[in-house]
Amino acid sequence: MTHTLLRGRLLTFLRAPQELGDTGSYLYESDGGLLIKDGLIVACGAYDKVSAKAPADVVAVDHRPHLIMPGFIDTHVHFPQMQVIASYAANLLEWLNTYTFPEECRFVESAHAARIATHFYDELVRHGTTTAVAYCSVHKASADAFFAEALRRKMRMVGGKVMMDRNAPQGLLDTPQMGYDETRQIIAEWHGKGRCHVAITPRFAITSTPAQMEATQALAREFPDLHIQTHLSENHDEIKFTCELYPEAIDYTDVYARYGLLGDRTLFGHCIHLSDREADAMSETGSVAVHCPTSNLFLGSGLFPLKALARREKSVRIGVATDIGGGSSYSMLRTMDEAYKIQQLLGERLNPLESYYHMTLGNARSLSLDDRIGTLDVGSDADIVVLNAAATPAMALKMEVVKTLPEELFLLQTMGDDRAIVETYVSGVAAKSTI
Ligand code: GUN
Ligand code: ZN
Repeated sequence: MTHTLLRGRLLTFLRAPQELGDTGSYLYESDGGLLIKDGLIVACGAYDKVSAKAPADVVAVDHRPHLIMPGFIDTHVHFPQMQVIASYAANLLEWLNTYTFPEECRFVESAHAARIATHFYDELVRHGTTTAVAYCSVHKASADAFFAEALRRKMRMVGGKVMMDRNAPQGLLDTPQMGYDETRQIIAEWHGKGRCHVAITPRFAITSTPAQMEATQALAREFPDLHIQTHLSENHDEIKFTCELYPEAIDYTDVYARYGLLGDRTLFGHCIHLSDREADAMSETGSVAVHCPTSNLFLGSGLFPLKALARREKSVRIGVATDIGGGSSYSMLRTMDEAYKIQQLLGERLNPLESYYHMTLGNARSLSLDDRIGTLDVGSDADIVVLNAAATPAMALKMEVVKTLPEELFLLQTMGDDRAIVETYVSGVAAKSTI
């Protein structure tokens, strides 16, 4: 296969940034080159040096003056909720019962699931997202459609069929045995195929009986390398209902702990209202709290204490995500803009370096996939986003007075969306311009 050589300004993180002046946390190359072969990054650095390694028949793409970064990662999104976005509800439980559950019932139809999967990946790519961790519906057909499309597009995707056996419409219920069997089938058919990863996905404690939680625990024991994803501590009524359903648990987090579901492969969506004890339990097990800012604001769920959780002595690992369709944008730029505002309301500062760290290397680390994605390191998957901070007239006007890299990143985050994504490369191939 031929080589591809991208030219532009390169930015990739080395570790979590401390403060705005923490130039040691990232690598920035003002005239950079990125050489790609067979879907992998084979050289990264100053353009002169990298281009010298390229063969004569290299395909060169000049992205100057744009910024080249690792593709964005979304660690919590619901693929069957593309037509749930913008549903007018008072709170989480009303939103689920009125709009979300009825909509997910439609995914029993393979043709519908396949159609939405096409749109889903188009939107990810349009917004510069190259890896996402998704909830499918309860139907195996939805997971099949999700992974078939990931395979077709050669994308690194994590997903699972939700297991749910109570407190939802009949058309959305499995049983402990069915949830277990179908998850095993999906693992056998899709896990490790292309760049597909299957996640064990009990929706949340409210929609799983203790028997289903036991089946989930059995899956987690059988497949210890798989990710687990679920929801935790999103809304006060949700927390109260959960504690009534599991009276033996000391709190919501303990419900999952009792079934062995805490751990460094587990992603807990939301985690807004955790007690100190629960945050300790998350920290001690290496569990990940996934911040979903546009969703938390849209549903009025609360203000996630990102900074407070990160700076605890027992710090909690953090991911960031859109949570479509509770979330209101596919864009990780829009997501981090709202994350910034939430910290402002809490009297905290989230600097732009931290935001871009979270969208890339931070999220890759939260998935324990940082050896494959989240950086421009040699050997990584060539999943790349090209960003233009002057994408709209208003952004271009502001760019006239922008002097530093952090200022440019902050502008992109504050005003940017899919219009700021010049190109998205998946496995080294331009994917946005070919949608
Ligand atoms: N809790 C259980 N299911 C869901 C869901 O689909 N979205 C959100 N935001 N929270 C949930
Ligand atoms: Zn969710």
